[in-house]
Amino acid sequence: MWLDMATLLLIHGPNLNLLGAREPRHYGAKTLRDIEGEVADAAKRLGHTVSAFQSNHEGAIIDFLQKESPKAAGIIINPGALTHYSYALYDALRDTKLPAVEVHLSDIASREEWRRVSVTSPACIAQISGKKEAGYIEALEILDAEIKSG
Ligand code: DQA
Repeated sequence: MWLDMATLLLIHGPNLNLLGAREPRHYGAKTLRDIEGEVADAAKRLGHTVSAFQSNHEGAIIDFLQKESPKAAGIIINPGALTHYSYALYDALRDTKLPAVEVHLSDIASREEWRRVSVTSPACIAQISGKKEAGYIEALEILDAEIKSG
């Protein structure tokens, strides 16, 4: 059994509202709005809808997960720096019981030592890092396969 039209949550954490202007060498030239649009278009082709959210506040992201996850089938999340220390976000992702894919625009394994650790990825079915915005489309495909294999 697979859902005809699933809602997928697309979540961005702190500072990712500045995409486009923020360290393009690491994060690419696309704005957050560009990325959200591309993911929504690709999701539509697969028969899904996207509910997008960005916040600079850990608690706001957790509130969004708690409120929206009961209506959703999967999560794509770039937690920004929360990746490296937010056990609260790890717990919140686990509590959704939804498949989640963690995406990083930059290659977190080849930057500062502290970026190599992700405390949130163990709550996810996959982590994609270093593929710039293409990582989100890969995440979408992983989630689509997961949802359809139901
Ligand atoms: C990031 C990597 C994080 O280390 C950083 O704090 C970000 C963006 C990425 O997309 O590469 O804000 O998640």
